[in-house]
Amino acid sequence: MSIDIGGMRIKYKDKDDTFLEKHLVSKEPFGQFKAWFEEACTRKEILEPNAMCLATSSKDGYPSARFVLLKGFGKEGFKFFTNYGSRKAKEMEINPNVAATFYWEILNRSVRIEGSVEKLSEEESTSYFHSRPVPSQIAACASYQSTPIESRDILCEREKELEAKYMIPGLEVPKPAYWGGYIIRPRAVEFWQGQRDRLHDRIKFRKPKEGEEPDEKILHRGEDGWVFERLSP
Ligand SMILES: Cc1cc2nc3c(=O)[nH]c(=O)nc-3n(C[C@H](O)[C@H](O)[C@H](O)COP(=O)(O)O)c2cc1C
Repeated sequence: MSIDIGGMRIKYKDKDDTFLEKHLVSKEPFGQFKAWFEEACTRKEILEPNAMCLATSSKDGYPSARFVLLKGFGKEGFKFFTNYGSRKAKEMEINPNVAATFYWEILNRSVRIEGSVEKLSEEESTSYFHSRPVPSQIAACASYQSTPIESRDILCEREKELEAKYMIPGLEVPKPAYWGGYIIRPRAVEFWQGQRDRLHDRIKFRKPKEGEEPDEKILHRGEDGWVFERLSP
């Protein structure tokens, strides 16, 4: 049986409030991301504005994607945490090139990041691990992420054992060696603003190719070594 959902569509905008180059609040991607992210955080309809879909790729070139939560960003990059034994981590070990996408539906906005990952320091991962609620720390210890498991009961058993061991005043749950963070150092960041009749706005920041010089018409000089250009929707 095939279900036809070809008629499912929404109108993005009634009025034509375009996202033009003059509306950029920053000529480098982090300042622009900060502005859009902060706006997304003010909208109660967006429950997890920091949720991003992270795509990695196996050594044979088969991509896989899943959501993770952004836990920090700045000029140095975008940070998230996970299990270093997980499928994504194994893929990033072999191929550090990743892509991540945010979608803030109520704002008709999306941000696309492309770059390569590096592991965060053990100190930073440990410090973030202990800032999480204790049940989440226990869950991270109980789960060998991405490995097949016979039943949920086994997971709950492990959780109980760890609770008995560590949920004692004065004791800290030790961060497992297989858990930690990554930073995506971006090569490109695109800002997508949905517009009326699918004539969307796309402004992409990227690092220039070797010898590539900005020109007046298409490729604009940004700040901090970035250039930006408008892409067709
Ligand atoms: C909204 C959302 C946020 C998530 N955040 C994280 C996260 O920050 N870190 C993480 O390891 N998994 C997170 N997950 C679970 C992942 O999507 C995924 O199931 C898990 O990381 C295993 O992926 P993998 O087998 O491809 O490595 C999140 C899932 C959702 C839906």
